[in-house]
Amino acid sequence: MKNRNAVLIFVLFISLTVFASKKSEDEKIEKILSQMTIEEKVGQMNQQNFNALDDNLINQLKNGQIGSLLNISDKTAIDKIQRIAKTESRLGIPLIMGRDVIHGFKTIFPIPLGQAASFNPSIVESGARIAAIEASSAGINWTFTPMLDISRDARWGRIAESLGEDTYLASILGAAMVKGFQTNDLSNPTSIASCVKHFVGYGAAEGGRDYNSTNIPPYLMRNVYLPTFEASIKVGAATVMTSFNDNDGIPSSGNKYLLRNILRDEWKFDGFVVSDWGSMEEMITHGFAKDRKQVAQLSANAGLDMEMQSGTYMENLPQLVKEGKVSVKVINDAVRNILRIKFRLGLFDKNYTEKNVPSEFYSPDHLLMAKKAAVQSAILLKNDNNTLPLKKGLKVAIIGPLADAPHDQLGTWVLDAEKSHTITPLKALQTDYPDVQYVYEPALAFSRDLNKEHFSKAVIAAQKSDVAIVFLGEESILSGEAHSLSNINLIGVQSELLEAVKSVGKPVVLVIIAGRPLTIERDLKNADAVLYIFHPGKMGGPAIMDLIFGKENPSGKLPVTFVREVGQIPMYYNHNNTGRPAIGRVTRLNEIPVEAIQHSLGNTSFYLDSGNEPLYPFGYGLSYSRFEYSNLSLSAQQIKMGDSITIRATLRNNSDVDGTEVAQLYVQDIVGSIIRPVKELKGFRRVLLKANESKVIEFVLSANDLAFWGLDRTLKAESGDFNVWIGGSSVAPLKATFTLIP
Ligand code: NOJ
Repeated sequence: MKNRNAVLIFVLFISLTVFASKKSEDEKIEKILSQMTIEEKVGQMNQQNFNALDDNLINQLKNGQIGSLLNISDKTAIDKIQRIAKTESRLGIPLIMGRDVIHGFKTIFPIPLGQAASFNPSIVESGARIAAIEASSAGINWTFTPMLDISRDARWGRIAESLGEDTYLASILGAAMVKGFQTNDLSNPTSIASCVKHFVGYGAAEGGRDYNSTNIPPYLMRNVYLPTFEASIKVGAATVMTSFNDNDGIPSSGNKYLLRNILRDEWKFDGFVVSDWGSMEEMITHGFAKDRKQVAQLSANAGLDMEMQSGTYMENLPQLVKEGKVSVKVINDAVRNILRIKFRLGLFDKNYTEKNVPSEFYSPDHLLMAKKAAVQSAILLKNDNNTLPLKKGLKVAIIGPLADAPHDQLGTWVLDAEKSHTITPLKALQTDYPDVQYVYEPALAFSRDLNKEHFSKAVIAAQKSDVAIVFLGEESILSGEAHSLSNINLIGVQSELLEAVKSVGKPVVLVIIAGRPLTIERDLKNADAVLYIFHPGKMGGPAIMDLIFGKENPSGKLPVTFVREVGQIPMYYNHNNTGRPAIGRVTRLNEIPVEAIQHSLGNTSFYLDSGNEPLYPFGYGLSYSRFEYSNLSLSAQQIKMGDSITIRATLRNNSDVDGTEVAQLYVQDIVGSIIRPVKELKGFRRVLLKANESKVIEFVLSANDLAFWGLDRTLKAESGDFNVWIGGSSVAPLKATFTLIP
């Protein structure tokens, strides 16, 4: 009883504190708002691109015409701008300084897709924390990340910036990123506001062509594309960015249903919404607005608080208010949302000194974490005859355009990176492994290089060595925004280079450094081992070399399905079942008799030329250890709504090498009121196992975890039978069944 009272008093105390701080926040906001002219309010809703700190900008600042700047990272300039805004404008409102700090500011981490391969929320959170520490020391207080767009199409260049194809994984990792950037307290001097983007459906661009329209039916939207955003907003993401695409013919920047009904009414989001670069004025090109004035009207009324760069608010909102086409309430609400985040960030309390403060760049613990992230992001796809790790004393040939490409290994979105700080695999070999004898022959100057003149040198290098390590892949500029590809084979003549090296007859280790999953089936025959690493960032070189020489053991798993042929796209593990799923052996092209008569009996859903299987499934990745799963057991055969079930299995490291395995839990709702996917990830855990060690791993699944957005348009679990699997990838073989009863 005493305890209960103590808990009640504590809860009451917390509620009162929250209420009091919310009240004082509201009072501060209302106090400023009550003094603002309509022009000053619209000024808060205006984000401008930073060009120069000239008289024009200074005048705008003094007149309160700018709420935010983007693309600025010069601390002295930022401080000067903030000082002018705070001391020389009528109301002294500071700006929020936005920047694309996507996977590191100076200490560049693996691209988000690589971080996702770690299946490690804590490393993702640390990466964001470090990025925030470095960026905030340069005066930046807002980053446009995480990108939470589910990506099922490797042609889409921005898959690089995504957290993969799976909603559950991306929700967990996205929320971890938000926590890393923001901490629990936005006013902490090293916290920066995060921006979840692109709301919503941007990753479903038809054909993987960037900015393209999407076709997302409502259940898919609810069950696949929206939950990542909701998860991040639940942990406090301060801002949301609208996407370029339209959904059902409505561009996101003018979509009231998304921005008001879902974001505000359903999710109770109280931060602010910003448009993407040009996404508002592009509603004219979409054919959704006739001119810039209508753009401003549509976006403001839809609930878009701040316009990035295109200036239609500044130009038109005061007049639209006069004409009664946009209400003062709409404007006030937008400004409240923006001021709220500025207060939470503590921007009003800061002193801007214009003095150079010591930066926090590249500190040893940042580098260590960046290396750890790179190690955990590498996926071992193939390792015939235990080619890897390399035995001591071997002479190695280092070949290929990505072995020493300091710019390209950093990946997309590295606005503030300095390539001179990158440690490439070649550099790491030279400094960390001085005893290893090697020859280096890039053979190609860059990934698209078509000049085969130096192939012979690569062949000679392989002949002179015991093993060849061939570094192929993509330059960083081949993925990222506006860099979609229709052919995702290794670009240029890289496959031919690999073939030439393999023809020597020495073991070949292929290291692929890329921004997306490439179609590498044709290359596998020319490599004894394949280590795949999405652009790994600054410390990629040491990470790769430690993996190759066995100082580290690979533990990354695929956050996306690897297809055999580009024509298989979209292919993702958590698809719905057709009425004719292709299970087992399927007919292949050359088995069809010439002049066979039209016939479909027994045919199932697959391609005659590439079958129905991916090259590598979601969740897949090898290790130098050998992991075995056994003894799957359930705590109950039946559970009731509101209860939970414990699923256990034994995981054994059946090898002499210590290693970490990402154990994964998948679930299938066998019969639903709408068809449920063939399986869905519902849990994962990195498990460290010593050589020959066994552990019982355990996942607890609550009935709520089985919920989906169903026919009655609510999120709930349906009673019935469920399959569960535990294993090391999405084709986990250990399976059991339980029943959820009403
Ligand atoms: C366009 C991109 O789509 C968005 O992700 C980015 O944050 C903005 N430009 C600002 O650079």
